[in-house]
Amino acid sequence: MYKSHTCGELRKEHIGQEITLSGWVHRRRDHGGVTFVDLRDRFGISQVVTHPDISPEAHQALYPVRMEWVIQVTGIVRERPEGMENPDLATGYVEVEVNDVKILNPAQTPPFLINKEEEVDEQTRLEFRYLDLRRERMRDNLILRHRFIKFIRDYLDERDFLEVETPILFKTTPEGARDYLVPSRVHPGEFYALPQSPQQLKQMLMVGGVERYFQIARCFRDEDQRGDRQPEFTQLDLEMSFVGRDDVMELIEGMYTALVAEIVPHKKVLETPWPRMTYNEAMSRYGKDNPDIRFGMELQDITELVVESDFRIFASVAKKGGLVCGINARGLGDYSRKQLDELVEFVKRYDAKGLAYLALTTDGEERSSFAKFLAEETKQSILENMDAQPGDLLLFVADDEEVVYESLGLLREELADRLGLCDDDVLGFAWVIDFPLFTWNADEERWDPSHHLFTSPMPEDVHHLDSDPGQARGQQYDLVLNGNEVSGGSIRIHDSDLQEKVFGLIGLDPEVARQRFGHMLRAFTFGTPPHGGIASGIDRFCMLLADEPNIREVIAFPKNQSARDVMGDAPSPVEVKQLDELHIKLDLGEE
Ligand code: AMO
Ligand code: AMP
Repeated sequence: MYKSHTCGELRKEHIGQEITLSGWVHRRRDHGGVTFVDLRDRFGISQVVTHPDISPEAHQALYPVRMEWVIQVTGIVRERPEGMENPDLATGYVEVEVNDVKILNPAQTPPFLINKEEEVDEQTRLEFRYLDLRRERMRDNLILRHRFIKFIRDYLDERDFLEVETPILFKTTPEGARDYLVPSRVHPGEFYALPQSPQQLKQMLMVGGVERYFQIARCFRDEDQRGDRQPEFTQLDLEMSFVGRDDVMELIEGMYTALVAEIVPHKKVLETPWPRMTYNEAMSRYGKDNPDIRFGMELQDITELVVESDFRIFASVAKKGGLVCGINARGLGDYSRKQLDELVEFVKRYDAKGLAYLALTTDGEERSSFAKFLAEETKQSILENMDAQPGDLLLFVADDEEVVYESLGLLREELADRLGLCDDDVLGFAWVIDFPLFTWNADEERWDPSHHLFTSPMPEDVHHLDSDPGQARGQQYDLVLNGNEVSGGSIRIHDSDLQEKVFGLIGLDPEVARQRFGHMLRAFTFGTPPHGGIASGIDRFCMLLADEPNIREVIAFPKNQSARDVMGDAPSPVEVKQLDELHIKLDLGEE
């Protein structure tokens, strides 16, 4: 037996008992000949003490022990002397008077402190992830993630869902990223593709009569890395038969509402039932289809007000069918020239050509890069429209809709951050619905699915597929939380003719469509229930619930920003023999 109790368990009721603990040396102090060690395991910290007079052997044995050594101690639990209690520690009223010490494993000096939440460069943390995982922050994140997944499993089990595993070695399941390919040795020249999601397979499960499926599914996408993306990540993947979109949305809303109450009870949901907005509304109010609704600062469209104005930049954009929008950053009216220039640089990163400003200082002055070109009446209408008060800063972008939305939408969130408008303990859930089914791909002159290939059009919009596909809305729903897309799903096409028509619209050659998705088209001819589902990004969800800035903090062994595992050093070269077996020859050019 290595331990009779955990290091987090000892209380006053254990006083007088002989116990054994095993764990890591969290901290060691020597005071007047007495040695104090904070012994740590996953469950907490206990103070253990050796006296040279009371148990000289144990005291001697502790002598070489340093930080992060693994030791086992046996001793008697006793009350801490008066004044020595530590109310911050669950075990802080007792300590263990040790009479036996065993060294289970010594440790090198770790490259960073485990017992202190200090800033450590991420590369080092990832290289020594096993040490990083010992730290409180990572331990708590792993626990939160475990509880998150356990809650989902129990909740869905109680509602008759079956957890079914689907293959990792399958064929391409497009979700808009590149595939990770796995060469087949047995079938030279042929490849499996790792699933970007279990999308096709969960639909096959519906054809297979499973009716209610879920899976904690690993997904693989080769795409540009960002703080909220990893090459492999985890979804709660879910699919249901005989449902419409409200059924799926209600299930998810009920589940996450209960989950939040249990797992992060200190967090408040901003608004219940969760607000629903159309894609168009989300874009025009927030500039993003994954808006942060915890604060206002909404976009105001002033195109009509400035179309006839003498400010050439606004008027010409407005006349060309572009958009002029502004936001009111309350409280930033005294921003300096330099601070304003920084904001201009910010929006330029998103292709805006400039950022016009109108600042109302707190002492009633007005500074503006363009107001002098406006008739007084026009200026007043703008001020009124944007509810401008002294101390406010109005910021405007004129451009194509896409540029205006992206640059102002992101500027809005940046400023909210600076103004401290986002409370981490508030959860702003919102549904975004009525997405366009397709977006026009100007480079390739074809329609792209805006979600994925299998999303069903709104029944009343099916006729647009023949005349004007851009008008068709999909039966799609995204769940956003504090400015992040945390789930996305849709009601699916369950009719092979309609599915084939969609393949045609996105320019998929019928032969290619048959090769890639023939199995689905065929399955759909054998009696397919109407079905739909959703997938949640578990990493993103946990990141937000744990108040972490990126998803790497809630993944035990994440890849770094350039998709490398720096602990195991992957990817890495392989033996020529392995390549030969796979009939693969490398052609690395000059590199
Ligand atoms: P979608 O592509 O929207 O839908 O993915 C669902 C959710 O997965 C998360 N996510 C990611 N998380 C981390 N790293 C990534 N690279 C990454 N990509 C996506 C997001 C997203 O909301 N098959 C469909 C679901 C369906 O239609 O049922 C799908 O995968 O939080
Ligand atoms: P300029 O005439 O280029 O000095 O621009 C005058 C002001 O308009 C400056 O504050 C610019 O940042 C701003 N500006 C220029 N182009 C745009 C645009 N497309 N949208 C919004 N503001 C702009």
